[in-house]
Amino acid sequence: MVNRTFTPFPILRTERLSLRQLVINDEQEIFALRSDSEINKYLDRQASHTVDDARNFINKVNEHINNNEALYWAITLRDTNILVGTICLFGFSDEHDSCEIGYELQTNFQGQGIMREAAAKVIGYAFHTLKVQKIEAFLHKDNLRSVRLLDKFLFQRSNKPDEATPELIGYELTNSIDKPK
Ligand SMILES: CC(C)(COP(=O)(O)OP(=O)(O)OC[C@H]1O[C@@H](n2cnc3c(N)ncnc32)[C@H](O)[C@@H]1OP(=O)(O)O)[C@@H](O)C(=O)NCCC(=O)NCCS
Repeated sequence: MVNRTFTPFPILRTERLSLRQLVINDEQEIFALRSDSEINKYLDRQASHTVDDARNFINKVNEHINNNEALYWAITLRDTNILVGTICLFGFSDEHDSCEIGYELQTNFQGQGIMREAAAKVIGYAFHTLKVQKIEAFLHKDNLRSVRLLDKFLFQRSNKPDEATPELIGYELTNSIDKPK
């Protein structure tokens, strides 16, 4: 059974990063991320067109957290406090003890191993603390940076072709640490 209590919000820290909850003050950074055509290139999501859109998005995310439906972290640099990206766990299934992972980084902070560092922490948290048994990721087949990231954690291709969205491919990682008793 997944341990799905997200209050108090779990702040996670790594060598370079602090992963914390979004606040309304992050609206400019969230707007920048969600309106960036390079970042949105392979993402099937509603882009932010205004700062209002970003603020609404932050409110919606925090509502999902309050309802224990999703976890969504702002990835910030510990030395400067700059918000460089986000990472989330969502789509929790109690039937399968599973969830999905999603992530994004500002383009000028890519290629530094930041997402690898953040994802390692979040995946460990999902498996050890939440007791999730499987993490899934769905991505555009041409999103090679994302594929490379998942490969580093030994995610495997899942066979879930979807006729409506053939360009989407599925990956999954099984929890080999904490088997249910
Ligand atoms: C997917 C995404 C987060 C990957 O970002 P990233 O910076 O490439 O990912 P990583 O943190 O794994 O960094 C890897 C790169 O950092 C380099 N690197 C530099 N310093 C490093 C360090 N200290 N440790 C590890 N890697 C380091 C690696 O060599 C690698 O470079 P390469 O890709 O040129 O080989 C990013 O491309 C993104 O935000 N895309 C848009 C949103 C998106 O598509 N999200 C996925 C939805 S499914």
